[in-house]
Amino acid sequence: MLSYRHGFHAGNFADVLKHVVLVEVLDYLKRKPKPLAYIDTHAGAGSYDLGSAFAQKKREFDTGIGRLWGGDPGPVARYLECVRTVNPDGKLAHYPGSPAIARALLDGDDRLVLFERHGNEATALREWAAGEARVTVREEDGYGGCIGLLPPASRRGVLLMDPSYELASDDDRVVRTLAAAHRRFATGVYLLWYPVVRRARAQALIAALCATGIRRIERHELGIAADSEGFGMTASGMVVINPPHVLAGRMAEILPWLAARLSKNQDAHYVSETLVGE
Ligand SMILES: C[S@@+](CC[C@H](N)C(=O)[O-])C[C@H]1O[C@@H](n2cnc3c(N)ncnc32)[C@H](O)[C@@H]1O
Repeated sequence: MLSYRHGFHAGNFADVLKHVVLVEVLDYLKRKPKPLAYIDTHAGAGSYDLGSAFAQKKREFDTGIGRLWGGDPGPVARYLECVRTVNPDGKLAHYPGSPAIARALLDGDDRLVLFERHGNEATALREWAAGEARVTVREEDGYGGCIGLLPPASRRGVLLMDPSYELASDDDRVVRTLAAAHRRFATGVYLLWYPVVRRARAQALIAALCATGIRRIERHELGIAADSEGFGMTASGMVVINPPHVLAGRMAEILPWLAARLSKNQDAHYVSETLVGE
């Protein structure tokens, strides 16, 4: 029985990095007025009430979005505008999940397909998406389900893969699914979130992805503390396949800015690198 609920973690430092990269990618692709497909293989509940018992348990948002809200928006103004769409009166009461971030940036011609396997989260997601013809919620396995959607009819698409990594088998499924997806739709943009709890696991995942033969892979990672063998996430990153050419330059500006705000710890660190070239 899997127990992960994203509501415990919504708006934490890892969500900030993940959603900043998502905003950068979608915003860039929307410069071209052509329909886009957005596929979220692990969508969560859509949006999160920061006053809920889940969010209040450890108040992880305090050291994530809470450190950015109401201050100088710096290079993440567009991301903060997306967070504002669920907090129209300016008080930080909700946090948008990846579906809400995507919905805020996409238009009526775009299509969103959201996979969520957990029954409670899928119910919340369906309620969140109710009445939106452009959004489809599928309560099923996102690894298996996404392949049949590729390539999208629009031939332009972004796929976000954001597993909870509760199962040891998640890493292998991530790599096999991205390889299969890329074989069907080689020009798509693929975003993979990874946590650093134990550095060796993150390194093995990235190495396996690089060994698939897929070209044009970047990663952008932000850590709030030094690597540790103890319990807890010290860093997280986004692997991006077929990144917009402007992404590395944007992240070179954003990562030090975020690191200075999201960590009070001298061990804050960030990495922005090309893993596999053209
Ligand atoms: C990290 S959370 C997603 C957060 C969301 N992407 C966001 O940024 O707001 C991962 C979600 O994946 C769901 N999940 C786990 N395994 C899955 C699978 N095989 N297919 C689809 N969803 C899955 C979990 O129930 C959980 O809600």
